[in-house]
Amino acid sequence: MATERSTFLLDETQIPTQWYNLVPDLPAPPPPPLHPGTREPVGPDDLAPLFPMALIGQEVTGDQYVDIPGGVLDVYRIWRPSPLVRARRLEKLLDTPAKIFFKYEGVSPAGSHKPNTAVPQAFYNHEEGVRRLTTETGAGQWGTALAFATAQYGMECEVWQVRSSYDQKPARRTMMEVYGATLHPSPSDLTEAGRSVLAEHPDSTGSLGIAISEAVEAALQREDTRYALGSVLNHVLLHQTVIGQEALLQLEQAEAVPDVIVGCTGGGSNFAGLSFPFIREKLAGRMDPVIRCVEPAACPSLTRGEYRYDFGDTIGMTPLLKMHTLGHGFIPDSIHAGGLRYHGMAPLVSHVYELGLAEAEAIPQLECFQAALMFARTQGIVPAPEPTHAIAAAIREANRCKESGEEKTILTALCGHGHLDMSAYESYLHGSMQDLDFPEEELRAAMEAVPVV
Ligand SMILES: Cc1ncc(COP(=O)(O)O)c(C=O)c1O
Repeated sequence: MATERSTFLLDETQIPTQWYNLVPDLPAPPPPPLHPGTREPVGPDDLAPLFPMALIGQEVTGDQYVDIPGGVLDVYRIWRPSPLVRARRLEKLLDTPAKIFFKYEGVSPAGSHKPNTAVPQAFYNHEEGVRRLTTETGAGQWGTALAFATAQYGMECEVWQVRSSYDQKPARRTMMEVYGATLHPSPSDLTEAGRSVLAEHPDSTGSLGIAISEAVEAALQREDTRYALGSVLNHVLLHQTVIGQEALLQLEQAEAVPDVIVGCTGGGSNFAGLSFPFIREKLAGRMDPVIRCVEPAACPSLTRGEYRYDFGDTIGMTPLLKMHTLGHGFIPDSIHAGGLRYHGMAPLVSHVYELGLAEAEAIPQLECFQAALMFARTQGIVPAPEPTHAIAAAIREANRCKESGEEKTILTALCGHGHLDMSAYESYLHGSMQDLDFPEEELRAAMEAVPVV
């Protein structure tokens, strides 16, 4: 009896050996980051106190491909290539003619896509003699990934975790400590940035923007220390393209071509990692998928934010980035998808959106968790709160196919599992989770503080 294949696996030899850079393939280059003082494009010297030269080079490279060093591939081999799965049991539940594929990044040691960039970031810092990395984390996935990556190269790691996640997810804290990292809730009294927020809001639940300010400030204080960012910047998006490159090969195995690609967007890295290699194919005329970003209704930077220069952090220490922003002072509600609580969108994803190569929708959290339960009860994997947005969007699309009878192929990234996010599921199952209204007035106030460039 013929069996229907559900899982598409690659051999270890098929792990990509290069990262793909979308920039040279775009019809127009993205606007450069600006120095906050001079408002001139930033140069390598401006970034050198924060990042190693190899990463600064990748941030601005015009090369279409960047070789992945052997020392990174050695660590990638712990979990890559990751599986591509056809969600046949979910399709059956939905009674849809659509085919739903998900690229599963939860098989990484940290449980998400974040090690794809944490490992090269730690590697290049280590190569250049850096001994300690500081960073922020929202959901805790990024902090865990960097803690794992720094452990691979014998480095120290110090993490400022957004207060709301620090309180909601004690197991994440322990996991980072298992890898040897030092944790601080943010805002903390260890930095000027943290103290200034606490002076105004002693009960602040924190935000990624505040945690970034703290980690940047701490990195600048020591010569042997640099800062690592888990999303937003070009080099981070570049590293994530292993996801989409593998998915292209796996869809070939499945003899499928995507009609719709959906990815959740916090700072934009997993979305970019999945979709950029497909945008390359789209621009070359080899396929024509609709590509859609999915964001939380409570933090809708693409669908409600303005496209303009803003700071990447709350205090205003980073270069000015041209991006869709809700204002660097905007503190999103404490939704459970902590990794999607960021005021801005990656400049490169924002640019792709402006060019009309991707569209966006915002989904409220109750619908996302309803979708997550359908997914968990059919496919077995309990998703992290962030990709529940992508699953909800895939289900919306599959339901539309049911109505129209179209047999579309939908591709999404299940960019992390939710094993350490049970408090979010508990709150949904016990009825205490709510959809939060988007505070229009707070948005207006935050936008007033955005510099006019
Ligand atoms: C599992 C997971 N997915 C998605 C995100 C959002 O980040 P990005 O948009 O950079 O993928 C995060 C961020 O912490 C995350 O932990």
